[in-house]
Amino acid sequence: MLYSSRVLALLLALCIALITTLGLALFRAATTAMLSASFVISFSVSYLLVFFLLEFLVFREINRIHTLVTKLRKKELSDLGKQRSTPLNPLRAINEEIYSFAELKQKEIDELKKLEAFRREFIADISHELKTPIFAAQGFVHTLLDGAIDDKAVRNKFLKKAARSLDGLDALVEDLLTLSQIETGQVKMRFESVELYKLTEEVLEQFETKASKRGIKLRIKGDRPATAYADPLRISQVLSNLVSNAVNHSHDDSEVVVHIDQGKRYVTVSVIDKGEGIPPEHINRIFERFYRVDKSRSRAKGGTGLGLAIVKHILEGHHTRPEVESTPGKGSVFSFKLPRSKEVMEH
Ligand SMILES: Nc1ncnc2c1ncn2[C@@H]1O[C@H](COP(=O)(O)OP(=O)(O)OP(=O)(O)O)[C@@H](O)[C@H]1O
Ligand SMILES: [Mg+2]
Repeated sequence: MLYSSRVLALLLALCIALITTLGLALFRAATTAMLSASFVISFSVSYLLVFFLLEFLVFREINRIHTLVTKLRKKELSDLGKQRSTPLNPLRAINEEIYSFAELKQKEIDELKKLEAFRREFIADISHELKTPIFAAQGFVHTLLDGAIDDKAVRNKFLKKAARSLDGLDALVEDLLTLSQIETGQVKMRFESVELYKLTEEVLEQFETKASKRGIKLRIKGDRPATAYADPLRISQVLSNLVSNAVNHSHDDSEVVVHIDQGKRYVTVSVIDKGEGIPPEHINRIFERFYRVDKSRSRAKGGTGLGLAIVKHILEGHHTRPEVESTPGKGSVFSFKLPRSKEVMEH
């Protein structure tokens, strides 16, 4: 303990005693007894003085601050699992603690700033998205009130249009709720053994009428049975979103194929369409909330731009993520991988 107050006091007292004794030795009259006595006295007095000064005024206070800062850091942010070796010098230790504490605080501030920017952007997006259907419905209702209500044909047409806008609003709010519930962890995934082939069949059935109107064939290919460890309800939501996108962006009279490939540890599900595809510059952004490649066309089809954000979040809840491969004009493949058992998921 080179930096303990005792050692420092000892060293200083020795120096002081030596200097005093040497100074005294310059006088001829000084005897050995006097010199020894002065050494002992000056040593003891300065040792005691320096020791108490250091111990009570400096070291104890510094150590107290050091312990406090360490405690604060540990309590505030537990990210530093790594134990630092405490340097011998308490001043250096306290310096390091304060530095790392400040660093962590800065990181926290940066994170908060990012979140704040994200929140602002999100609110702007939401307001814009909500405004569109509300504005449309409002327009139809006001036109009716201004007299169009008397014309029966116009009345029905406008009421239908207003109803469609309100349905869109309902879908948007529903999607927003789902997204925020998944994000805040209110929706817990209920994992169990799921047979994906059957699940896919059920999802495709929902889109049969819509697809056949445009001559689009829906097919499943691959392994049967294919069992995965997942939340069946959420995975069917993922599949619905992907198949709905595939159908919406397919050319008439083409086909949408869901491919199920059972590997040793994972099952890979791919939704393949031969539609318009996605330009490469948009690929990285389509999973963002409200992001649409062609805003006006997608909105005209009733899209809220939240489908893929929901897909991404659900898959994150399954510790996996969606992959996309797309060629403009040729089509797209959206795929994701699910573990076959609980053990695989936990790895
Ligand atoms: N299979 C696909 N082919 C071409 N473009 C696609 C495909 N899937 C998604 N996209 C593009 O990605 C965008 C985002 O998709 P997302 O599912 O998030 O929103 P949406 O389909 O517009 O609305 P929602 O799914 O909420 O009804 C779409 O608007 C579209 O531009
Ligand atoms: Mg969609």
